[in-house]
Amino acid sequence: MKHRILFVDDEPQVLQGLRRMLHGQSRDWEMHFAPGAKEALEVMAATPMDMVVSDMRMPGMDGVQLLAEIKSRFPKAIRLALSGHMDERMIMGCTKVVHQYLSKPCSPEIMISVLRRILALRRYLAEEALACLTSSLDQIPSLPKMYLAIQEELQSSRCSLKKIGEIISTDVGMSAKILQLVNSSFFGMCTKVASPAQAVNLLGTETVKALVLHVQIFSQYDPRKCPNFSLARLSRHSLITATLAKRICAIESAAKDVQEDAFLAGILHDVGKLIFAVNCPVLYDEILEMISSRHLSLASVEQDALGASHAQLGAYLLGLWGMADPVVEAIAFHHHPALSATSQFTPLTALHAADSLILGIQPEGPTGKAEGPDMNYLEACELGDRIEEWEKPAKELFGMTVDEA
Ligand SMILES: [Fe+2]
Ligand SMILES: [Fe+2]
Repeated sequence: MKHRILFVDDEPQVLQGLRRMLHGQSRDWEMHFAPGAKEALEVMAATPMDMVVSDMRMPGMDGVQLLAEIKSRFPKAIRLALSGHMDERMIMGCTKVVHQYLSKPCSPEIMISVLRRILALRRYLAEEALACLTSSLDQIPSLPKMYLAIQEELQSSRCSLKKIGEIISTDVGMSAKILQLVNSSFFGMCTKVASPAQAVNLLGTETVKALVLHVQIFSQYDPRKCPNFSLARLSRHSLITATLAKRICAIESAAKDVQEDAFLAGILHDVGKLIFAVNCPVLYDEILEMISSRHLSLASVEQDALGASHAQLGAYLLGLWGMADPVVEAIAFHHHPALSATSQFTPLTALHAADSLILGIQPEGPTGKAEGPDMNYLEACELGDRIEEWEKPAKELFGMTVDEA
């Protein structure tokens, strides 16, 4: 079946341009075009859409209002913003309703590849699972605002590390938490890091950006109604896994971007658990209870009860957020790496090894059956003999503390 996509823009030339630019995709996509918010809602009411790509500045109901309306009336549709410069108020509004943001002008190549990637995310979640999840999940979270602001800054030609430090400094709570993390023995800093700008200088923008995401995600949600789930424990587990995944990459002399992707994937690999715990606390609590008393694997119980595992849900969410493919793939397959198509060293290899080594030393919570590293997969990657080497930093990390107050 073709994917249905609705494009909304009040400027006729823009809609015309999109029509022309995307004509070649009409074999796979059923495209609809609406010249304003009112028309867009009429189209949506008549025909369900898989995705909406909307302009933000429109007279009458603007893009933020339109996408908020679509979010409540048609929650299954994926929402993208396509816009030129946005002011602070718009960015704020956007982060609540937009899954991904594209800036205008957008080349056909970028537009097509972004839309194709998002539509392909369905491979991580079967159609029924997606339907079941979107009806049981109150909301699929949007990308946090500060992360978006840093991302924008990194893409601009005048980007400076100082500016990124300044963005973080605008939020006092965030700065304090980032400095606390960076100064914990965990990061092995020789000097005391005094400002976000210095943290960016010492750790690099990608690592600090991942830490911003970590702090935001773990402070935004409060799964109090799910007593078997501990936010502090998952937060610590995620940081240790990320750090170990990055070290494993360094040991294997992987390229810098592989190391950074592995760190980010480590930070986010179990975010699906948090989303389950927040959105379906009673059911998820029962699941955690059940796997701690019986010898079952968490992923398969999640799959049976919720229609997807935390790995699949996490991958789906990060794909919507526009994270790089290797990060999304690492998260999707972190418990079953053999399902990926490659047998080369990727962020997935590092994440899978790090997660299973860490869980072997200290379970993150009720994890069910301890599975250990998938040795067949590692042998296929010709890395079967490396696990002992990777175990050393895993043990070292447990001697260190991460203060998460
Ligand atoms: Fe996991
Ligand atoms: Fe994990």
